[in-house]
Formats: sequence, structure tokens, C-alpha cells
Amino acid sequence: MNDIAAAVALHILSIVWWIGGVAMVTTVLLPAARAMEDAHEGLAMFRRIEARFAWHARAATLLAGASGLYMILVLRLWPFFFVPNYWWLDAMVLVWSLFTIALFIAEPLFVDDWLEHHGEKAPAATLARLQRLHWIALILSVITVLGAAAGTNGWTF
Ligand code: HEM
Repeated sequence: MNDIAAAVALHILSIVWWIGGVAMVTTVLLPAARAMEDAHEGLAMFRRIEARFAWHARAATLLAGASGLYMILVLRLWPFFFVPNYWWLDAMVLVWSLFTIALFIAEPLFVDDWLEHHGEKAPAATLARLQRLHWIALILSVITVLGAAAGTNGWTF
């Protein structure tokens, strides 16, 4: 079972790395960008910093997915996806899928162009919308972390 212990350790590390970064972007970076007097400069600062964090988020997402999938395969957890008490297993895959689509597909294909054009015309509204989206992602992630950590330690409803 040392392999499972290692997978859990890597899984937790990846979640701390990734969701901690999402919390920082949502509660520190975006408010700081929105508080800047020149909204164009605020958006430019956000984009510079977020572009660097995106690589961290991509690496952490891959590590979380690989370690999670390994545990599911070795522990044969597939049937639990249909058990209501294990809703957090489904929530983990949902959150992971949303971020994976955002980071690997939407961002390079559409979001960069959208930020370029919409951001140029209405930088303050663009930052406000980005903050709303980040809050939704962060709240879903926090609910999932709480559910998974409590659920793996025996919490039942
Ligand atoms: C494809 C994506 C993912 C898969 C396949 C996956 C799978 C798993 C599995 C199999 C476990 C161990 C369950 C058990 O011991 O019974 C686990 C634990 C956990 N996962 Fe995930 N997970 C994924 C993504 C996520 C995400 C996105 C989050 C957070 C937002 C997350 C947070 C956690 C936490 C907090 C634990 C509990 C660790 C512990 O206390 O032992 N996982 N995950």
C-alpha cells in the first residue's frame, strides 16, 4: 500500500499547489488589478502574472489527474461514483474537467483572443467578469476539497 500512500501524498501536494494558486489569483491578484487607476494597466498586469501561473496550474492539474486516476484504478473505486455518499468523487472529476478544459482548450483557443479584443474595449468590465468566474471556480474547488477530505476520513450524510 506504499504506492497508494505516495499517490495520496502527490495528490494532496498537487491540490495545495493548484487550488492555493486559484485562491491567490481570486482574492489577491484580481482585486489588486481592479484597484489600479488605469484599468488597461490592471488588465495587463493580471494577464502577465496569470500567464505564468497558468503553467503551474497545468502541471498541478496533470499531477492531480494522474495520481487520482491511479488510486481509482488500483483501489477499484469506479462503482463508488454512483453512491450518493461519495458525491465528492464525482465533484473531483467535475472540477478537474472544468479546469482542464479551461487551461488546455479554452484559454489558448478562445480566451486569449477574447481578452485581447474585449479587454481592449472594456478592461474594467473584463476584469469584473474574470473575477466572477474565478470566484465560481474557487467556491466549487473549496466545496470539493472539504467534501473529499471529510469523505475519505469517514464523514457520512
Ligand atoms: C481526475 C481528477 C481526480 C481524480 C480521479 C481524483 C481521485 C481521488 C481519489 C481516488 C482519492 C482517494 C479517495 C479515497 O481514499 O477513498 C482522492 C482524494 C482526494 N482528492 Fe481527488 N481526484 C481528482 C481531482 C481532485 C480535485 C480537483 C480535488 C480538489 C479540488 C481533489 C481533492 C482531493 C482531496 C482533498 C482528497 C482527500 C485526500 C485525503 O484526505 O486522503 N481531487 N482523489
